[in-house]
Amino acid sequence: MKTPKSLGFATRAIHAGQEPDPLTGAVTVPIYPTSTYVQQGIGEHKGYEYSRVSNPTRARLEENLAALEGGVAARVFASGMAAINAIVSMLQSGDHVVCGNDLYGGTPRLFNQVMANFGVEFTYVDTSDPAKVEGAIRKNTRMVYVETPTNPLMRLSDLTAIGAICRRKKIDLVVDNTFMSPYFQQPLSLGADMVVHSTTKFLNGHSDGLGGVVVCAHQEHADKLAFLQKAAGAILSPFECWLVLRGVKTLAARMEIHDRSGRIVADYLSKHKKVKAVFYPGLSDHPQHLLAKRQMSGFGSMITFETGSLKNANTMLKKVRVCSLGESLGGVETLISHPATMTHAALGPKGRKAIGITDGLVRISVGIEDVDDILDDLDQALNAI
Ligand SMILES: Cc1ncc(COP(=O)(O)O)c(C=O)c1O
Repeated sequence: MKTPKSLGFATRAIHAGQEPDPLTGAVTVPIYPTSTYVQQGIGEHKGYEYSRVSNPTRARLEENLAALEGGVAARVFASGMAAINAIVSMLQSGDHVVCGNDLYGGTPRLFNQVMANFGVEFTYVDTSDPAKVEGAIRKNTRMVYVETPTNPLMRLSDLTAIGAICRRKKIDLVVDNTFMSPYFQQPLSLGADMVVHSTTKFLNGHSDGLGGVVVCAHQEHADKLAFLQKAAGAILSPFECWLVLRGVKTLAARMEIHDRSGRIVADYLSKHKKVKAVFYPGLSDHPQHLLAKRQMSGFGSMITFETGSLKNANTMLKKVRVCSLGESLGGVETLISHPATMTHAALGPKGRKAIGITDGLVRISVGIEDVDDILDDLDQALNAI
């Protein structure tokens, strides 16, 4: 029996696409490590021909993630970047995209250093102002690409307002929902046409595999993306699909703890004398706190803060013991990183300065360890500055 849409989020996370195996009754989805499938005759098969095109483990994950984001279908890829690449591969030479100017650094790297070579044009604007999005739209604009909250400055974009502009202009709105996960934010219900995630982060949640997904509001996009899975081949392996299927079962429980601890850590950082500024939508002084309350059902666990200089950032980052210094986010473990030299190094000093990413910024993805241990660790590390 298919899992009904009316069930709650945590129930769907555990059961959608994860129904017991019809052959054996196994409660976990089997991993099908097969490249091909025996056919009964020419054109006679059980729905599977070759694993680049389709695989039962992948089909189950795609069903699960479509149910969580409320889309008609989902397509999974080998990484978040492969998913984003598939989205922009639907465009043609001469098409134009309006994008946020404060995206995960790998996204503009793909747009500027790969896609631009094929004649696709990109304009970067502050999408926290819908008027700027509208002002950048041209005759050949096909897509608006937004990340909210942004990485690492935690700026929000009003998806309802931008969705209305896109519908009026008949262009697609794509939202990178990696930071919030579908547990706290549902862009398709606010007017987006496609949602993309690096499943590497909260959806998988255990820092043990890369992956990406695009969830579509329209079957037409889902069909094009299935074609791109077949044509370009950047699909997720059955084992990594299974890792996400396992991780996603605890998404609701993990997000609750991430959010609770995120609020505590943000509050602590905002009162620390060595911290010059804190960027977290859950703080009442965040410029878009009201939008955050309206658009998201939680604030999550991504926090960025200003230590004042590269030297200060390095001093504290060398001292952390419970927090792990490293790229990535969304795992059960607290990960702490330095955007200027890690995720946003590709922007170069000028590019970073233009959007306000300083050398003293530190980003933390608060994990689900005991929050007192995280606070003690941050305290000893910050007091070394
Ligand atoms: C917001 C966001 N989108 C996309 C990506 C790219 O995902 P992946 O590393 O799985 O390719 C990342 C990676 O950090 C990210 O933070």
